[in-house]
Amino acid sequence: MEKLLKVNSLCKTYILKGSSNNVLRNVDLEIEAGEFVCVMGPSGSGKSTLLYTVSGMDVMTSGSVIFDGKDISKLDKKELAALRLNEMGFIFQQMYMLKKLCILDNILLPGFQSGADRKAVRERAEELMRRLDIIDCAEREITEVSGGQLQRACLCRALINDPKMIFADEPTGALNSRAAEEVMHELTEANRRGTTVLMITHSVRVAAQCGRVLYLMDGDIQGELELGTLENESELPARERKLNNWLMDRGW
Ligand SMILES: Nc1ncnc2c1ncn2[C@@H]1O[C@H](COP(=O)(O)OP(=O)(O)O)[C@@H](O)[C@H]1O
Ligand SMILES: [Mg+2]
Repeated sequence: MEKLLKVNSLCKTYILKGSSNNVLRNVDLEIEAGEFVCVMGPSGSGKSTLLYTVSGMDVMTSGSVIFDGKDISKLDKKELAALRLNEMGFIFQQMYMLKKLCILDNILLPGFQSGADRKAVRERAEELMRRLDIIDCAEREITEVSGGQLQRACLCRALINDPKMIFADEPTGALNSRAAEEVMHELTEANRRGTTVLMITHSVRVAAQCGRVLYLMDGDIQGELELGTLENESELPARERKLNNWLMDRGW
């Protein structure tokens, strides 16, 4: 399989008031096109920092990140912005929807920004909203939908430009368990249709649905567990047990 993301000796150091904090220390990571990879680890272990540096949202201190054959540290600001807009999709715990726009307009925005044909963008937005069962929310304000509906709208927004990869930072962290299941279901479906996913989560139930789990601690990946593609919901309890045991061995 083709490697979509290749991370080599990635370091990220924050300097605050003269003292430096080595948050990522020589992280190596490869993700193949089509994988669903999840990152777990203690709070403050650098999970978000890893996600932001490999997706070009934040600058790395040293090392290299090759995304889809492109060395992201060699791209200028404009090229990087275009790469993020067209090839990457993002979802966050905090969702970051624009309050002044209705749900549909929030989803359309990155589509229009990409310069694609507006009619085609509208059609794709409607198709995605129908698929994720939020078409009835199209004209609503973002305060007029549930948390689960809002996160599914964020997923539509992340998918509007048909990205190669989705980066998700605790996308179910603010949701109740039912809404979390729905969002995971849709993320899994997007992955089945070919979108590669890198997701951070604290939830064993959520992580058990991914193909591979990485454990980040002290600024490096300390272990990885291959779970394989989830073929059937009935496999979930056994996958959860396996993951739980593995996490406990790592001091979870
Ligand atoms: N913008 C920043 N400036 C300085 N330190 C930061 C910044 N962002 C994160 N950190 C520090 O980096 C470490 C890892 O943070 P983070 O990546 O958010 O961890 P996680 O997502 O695993 O909880 C923490 O010690 C945090 O305080
Ligand atoms: Mg975080």
